[in-house]
Amino acid sequence: MLRVMVLVSGGGTNLQAIIDAVQAGKITNVELVGVLSNNKTVKSLERARNAGIPAVSVSPKDYDNRDLFNEAFLEKVDAFAPDLIVLAGFLVAIPPKMAARYSGRMINIHPSLIPSFCGVGYYGLKVHEQALARGVKVTGATVHFVTEGMDEGPIIAQKAVYVEEGDTPEILQKRVMEQAEWILLPQAIDDIANGRVVMENGRAVRK
Ligand code: GAR
Repeated sequence: MLRVMVLVSGGGTNLQAIIDAVQAGKITNVELVGVLSNNKTVKSLERARNAGIPAVSVSPKDYDNRDLFNEAFLEKVDAFAPDLIVLAGFLVAIPPKMAARYSGRMINIHPSLIPSFCGVGYYGLKVHEQALARGVKVTGATVHFVTEGMDEGPIIAQKAVYVEEGDTPEILQKRVMEQAEWILLPQAIDDIANGRVVMENGRAVRK
């Protein structure tokens, strides 16, 4: 069984999709060992506890500087001894030391077709605002391995979603979640847990 830990910042609908997929047997060979949030009050922690998964928080606000936070953050993650870390709407930059330690063992979901609308400053609703401002007709979501550069790691899977006339950022965000994110992320976890996807020589390789 792969020990999977999920990192979240917000509402946690992707976390819920993962929990549901494990419970429905759509993700196999996985034990959800922990959820970590950078925010003490989020709904995600409740979702985790409702599913019987240990949930912890660690906030940059509680530390005098970024180095001290990064140290505490890494310590909390290491304590769960995860085989795979899943960033499911986690909006804190991953410290380089952590990216190196979990190389090939950490994945992220991003709500666009990378390399469009990604990198520093592109997160959550902002991604959809920018996609609408640019007038793209197709957007989507991407699951990728995490490396030091933000949203730069090897791409595991992508799914396209159409933009429709009259879309607001909120409407588009919901469609991208429903049609892409909640499907792609559980699938990628199942693929990794069952040895069908690995990171090799800086690429995501399907076996
Ligand atoms: C999701 O759309 C996820 O793709 C995005 O944040 C949202 C979290 O929603 N992540 C990023 O933008 C990462 N750069 P959720 O808390 O309901 O899963």
